[in-house]
Amino acid sequence: MPLVSELELPAFDYFDPDMRGPSFHAAMAELRSHGWLATSPLGPFVLDRESADLFLRTRSATFPGLKIAELFGIEDGPLFEEMRRNILHRNGEDHRRLRNLVAPAFTPRAADRWRPAMRAFLADLWEAVRESGRCDFVTALARPYPSLTIARVMGAPLADAPRLHEWSEWIQRQFDAPSLTNERDRIERAVVEFYEYAGALLAARREEPGDDLLSTLLAAEAEGDRLSEVETLHLVLNVLIGGVDTTQSQLAHAIRLFAEHPEQWELVRERPELVPAAVEEVLRYEPITPFTARILHEDVEHRDVLFPAGTVVMVCAFTGNRDLGTETESERFDITAGRGR
Ligand code: HEM
Repeated sequence: MPLVSELELPAFDYFDPDMRGPSFHAAMAELRSHGWLATSPLGPFVLDRESADLFLRTRSATFPGLKIAELFGIEDGPLFEEMRRNILHRNGEDHRRLRNLVAPAFTPRAADRWRPAMRAFLADLWEAVRESGRCDFVTALARPYPSLTIARVMGAPLADAPRLHEWSEWIQRQFDAPSLTNERDRIERAVVEFYEYAGALLAARREEPGDDLLSTLLAAEAEGDRLSEVETLHLVLNVLIGGVDTTQSQLAHAIRLFAEHPEQWELVRERPELVPAAVEEVLRYEPITPFTARILHEDVEHRDVLFPAGTVVMVCAFTGNRDLGTETESERFDITAGRGR
């Protein structure tokens, strides 16, 4: 059985700065037309839905967070500490324990608690642009909205939302190879500043609990087990960096897609019950995390190809999400097609 590294495969240049917007779409379609595998300096890319499913679900693989640290020579310091403790990089029993402890704070019902505050933020942001009838959506809404929400969830002063936004944007760049190479100092500084800020907030909540996520996590208990202070700090950091940049970018793409497909926007206006399906279709059609990665802990055989232990497999949601029905159907942005899940 051939090793994946021995196959003649089309190459994908992950580091090409022009790989965005329509050129990204065209490059992905071209790659997919050659088959289900591509090669890159990071490792093989799997492009189809079935393979993506296999590599994301297998117990033989985990997210290669610490491999990324190793590849970029990050061996100590605040960013290394952040990577080591990130829930995304913690596996097995350790991961399950953290998930058990935090799960009650992240149920749909727990999220409902924040909806009135979220609606109020949107109403305020909308009010500021309503009269002029036009705005730059990113500046006016997509950018400020997630950090205001996370500030509220954290119990931080709303005036600090812009600082939270800035830290989130920098710390999130640990997933961007060029930034990790060229801007590491700035990322490290953001981690240190956030540690200081959230540490002070945590100390205050320990003294005087409130109705925020920090107080909930400090009180969280499962089978007699509790989160330590450092674990709580990192979970809050994960919520900040996981929730701000992602939501901002996905919201921006959502509005762009509806601007390009006004008939779909009309459907949402006429039938607001379509909103959940619209969210799923946006995530399917233009996922702002078009790739993720897994590192294999044992050999995996798939379609007569051997992926040896230690391989970093890049899993492509962008192309996988288009493996539904015929090519023309999958390329169509359609919130009524029920393809989002
Ligand atoms: C549209 C918005 C979002 C997108 C596109 C997104 C994307 C993702 C993806 C792709 C992963 C999985 C990575 C992998 O396993 O390979 C992930 C994990 C995660 N996300 Fe999000 N995310 C979004 C919003 C949020 C929000 C709002 C929060 C926090 C409130 C958050 C916190 C997390 C955390 C903590 C993990 C790690 C979970 C674990 O390993 O158990 N994300 N996100």
